[in-house]
Amino acid sequence: MAQISVWLMAGAMLCSSPAGALEGDALWMQRTDNLRVFNILRQLQRTPPHLCLGDRNNFTFPWNRGTIPQMHKTQRTCLHYQMLLQMFTLFSAQCSLAAWDHTLLSQLLSSLHHSLEHLEQLEHLEHLEEREGEDRACPKVRILLRKYFQRIYNYLRGKNYSACAWEVVRVEMTLRIAIMYRSSKESQPTQN
Ligand SMILES: *[C@@H]1O[C@H](CO)[C@@H](O)[C@H](O)[C@H]1NC(C)=O
Ligand SMILES: *[C@@H]1O[C@H](CO)[C@@H](O)[C@H](O)[C@H]1NC(C)=O
Repeated sequence: MAQISVWLMAGAMLCSSPAGALEGDALWMQRTDNLRVFNILRQLQRTPPHLCLGDRNNFTFPWNRGTIPQMHKTQRTCLHYQMLLQMFTLFSAQCSLAAWDHTLLSQLLSSLHHSLEHLEQLEHLEHLEEREGEDRACPKVRILLRKYFQRIYNYLRGKNYSACAWEVVRVEMTLRIAIMYRSSKESQPTQN
């Protein structure tokens, strides 16, 4: 994977490959990363979800399956990046340590870290392609996402970081990653 990243960077700097091909590879990598995070999140489950039905909560994620593929590409990368970054912060928090199996948790964190590195390469590609719009797109996405995660933190605190509260948050994160995965599939470039 590290080698692919280097290759992506080299391709971008030489500007000799068609953008579509590079983008296709980047999307493929994003999907593989998302799938890995998704699978670890599923394995992380400790409390049977049916015991936690009373704790379900609507965290009001500001985007949905329909709106994400319509977003500007730079905005979508930004959303993806910020989402993974916030997830990393959430799961690496002290209060998360008590809730999960430590081996799986460290796999999750390392997977998130890898995905973030790959997205940094992709952002670099996109910045070369088009600089305009990105400055305005990202702060808005970041603010909406920060509010969304604030609702999650408030909820966890309100529930005393109970096993069920974490289970509800785990399911929420799994669903969001699934949406990211599907939207990166739907936004695959059709040229070439
Ligand atoms: C969550 O709340 C938002 C805003 O109030 C609403 O649009 C959405 O349909 C709700 N989602 C669910 C699953 O209830
Ligand atoms: C949260 O935990 C504290 C300390 O264990 C306890 O005193 C408090 O009653 C708990 N609150 C709720 C809502 O469960």
